[in-house]
Amino acid sequence: MKRLFYPLALAVLVACTTTQTTTSPTAATSLTAPVPAATPVVTDQAMVVSAHPEATRIGVEILRKGGNAYDAAVAVQFALAVAFPVAGNIGGGGFLLYRGADGQEGALDFRETAPAAATRDMYLDKQGNVVPNLSTLGHLAAGVPGTVAGMVELHKKLGKLPWKDVVQPAVELASNGIKLTNKEAAGLNGQRETFAKINPYNAYLKPAPFNEGDVAKNPELARTLERIRDQGRAGFYEGETASLLVAEMQRGNGIISKQDLLNYQPKWRTPLHGEYRGYDVLTFPPPSSGGVALLQMLQMLEPYNLGKAGWHSPQATHWITEAERRVYADRATYLGDPDFGKVPVAQLLEKPYNKQRMATTLAYRATPSAQVSAGSGLPGYESDQTTHYNVVDAQGNAVSCTTTLNGAYGSKVVVAGAGFLLNNEMDDFSSKPGTPNSYGLVGGAANAIAPGKRMLSSMTPAILTKNKKLALVTGTPGGSTIITSVLQSILATVDYGLNAQQAVAAPRLHHQWLPDQIDVEAGALVPAAQDSLRARGYTLNPRGSWGRVEVIRVLPGGKLEGGADPRGDDTAAGY
Ligand code: GLY
Repeated sequence: MKRLFYPLALAVLVACTTTQTTTSPTAATSLTAPVPAATPVVTDQAMVVSAHPEATRIGVEILRKGGNAYDAAVAVQFALAVAFPVAGNIGGGGFLLYRGADGQEGALDFRETAPAAATRDMYLDKQGNVVPNLSTLGHLAAGVPGTVAGMVELHKKLGKLPWKDVVQPAVELASNGIKLTNKEAAGLNGQRETFAKINPYNAYLKPAPFNEGDVAKNPELARTLERIRDQGRAGFYEGETASLLVAEMQRGNGIISKQDLLNYQPKWRTPLHGEYRGYDVLTFPPPSSGGVALLQMLQMLEPYNLGKAGWHSPQATHWITEAERRVYADRATYLGDPDFGKVPVAQLLEKPYNKQRMATTLAYRATPSAQVSAGSGLPGYESDQTTHYNVVDAQGNAVSCTTTLNGAYGSKVVVAGAGFLLNNEMDDFSSKPGTPNSYGLVGGAANAIAPGKRMLSSMTPAILTKNKKLALVTGTPGGSTIITSVLQSILATVDYGLNAQQAVAAPRLHHQWLPDQIDVEAGALVPAAQDSLRARGYTLNPRGSWGRVEVIRVLPGGKLEGGADPRGDDTAAGY
């Protein structure tokens, strides 16, 4: 779906938008950034936004057949496992947040777990140093997958159509093949050497490079999906699929056992609530760090008039960065799997606490991260290959789901005979407290490895309501940048009145406490703003694009407006 995408001054943009901002927008100045103008998809009743056109098409078809948002979510999840192997999965896990049209809500945790044979120091050598790549590449990097159990649980509780009907479209996609986009062909080609090294067999490896337009079939994945279609949970965690997975583990010195698969359970968690400028913000609790961090940042930012300061102006960037810095420092110390240790969620979400955290913010200058600490522990790291989808159905049920293999194509291990990729989610644990990973982040004791434990995540599915009516559904992949990208999608719509497509397309900024720098996507800051921020003591780090934010916004009158991130092949559609 092509959209207009060109720079436009903020003043013009704000004048054109019909959405009410909660603060008065300022005219563009030499310090505010141009905002990309972009046309959202608008539908009357229902919408799906996902990372792949085929997954979106399948989700919409399920809705048209009378399925609800939960049926469509299951169908999209399985379709992404076929069409978007870089992150879509059945060999990974995720977090699904929902809000029913009747106001009921839930948070389904189908995060992977550490296998029973996992140990705290399993990625360290005899000298206690982290062995490079052991937690990211190959069989030992995989946690026990949660996706299939999660989808079965969601459908059992909330689905309307028969299970077989919602899995079947993915079976057909794997049998008939998907036409590769340019990005997908490049992604697969980029992994050829690694795939060959890890797998003697790999459905995603072929002798010649992939080209755009090639039809990629995966008959073994189709058979696995048929088993899931016909046997439900047992089609993955027992029988042939389980045997193939465990045989694959044994071939590559992995440790996931048949018992691990049998033992895996998804969990219903109690969603978190926060307030921001009259909106109720529903989001995900631990083992996501994202929900707590998002709500803390919104609390910290509410006193500031971001809209008046201007889009990506130095002053707005200063306030947002100082909030991010403090929240990521807290995340580092306090967050982990709540089933394995106390996570002080209520304390972190107390308004006086967050007010006091921001009280150390200087009016003009950056506070160096070295002076901002939450204690001795530091955060876990998430890589940025994850994916997100949103569904709103004609009844007003809403789903926001982030799902992941962790790294691009996960551990790069394809289960021979079963055709699916396994995650490398074990790298989201802290292999060794204090040792930075490739993103410069380090981990703490709350996120240490233990058998059966869930690794800390940044995935931040979020749903906003206003006056008890659905207002916004948002989420993104992006590892540690997930939280700040979701924050920016909320600020873009609530504080700056951007439409859904502008909110996802606009260049982004990111700060995560350590390293002490603002990551800057091209076009996010005008040169004068960059100079001003440097003068305030900030280090700016220009970097390539990150995140694939998906947004559905409910317009006054009830129509749906969809934003699909133009950084990928993401697509919004509906009716
Ligand atoms: N693996 C990405 C995350 O869970 O945050």
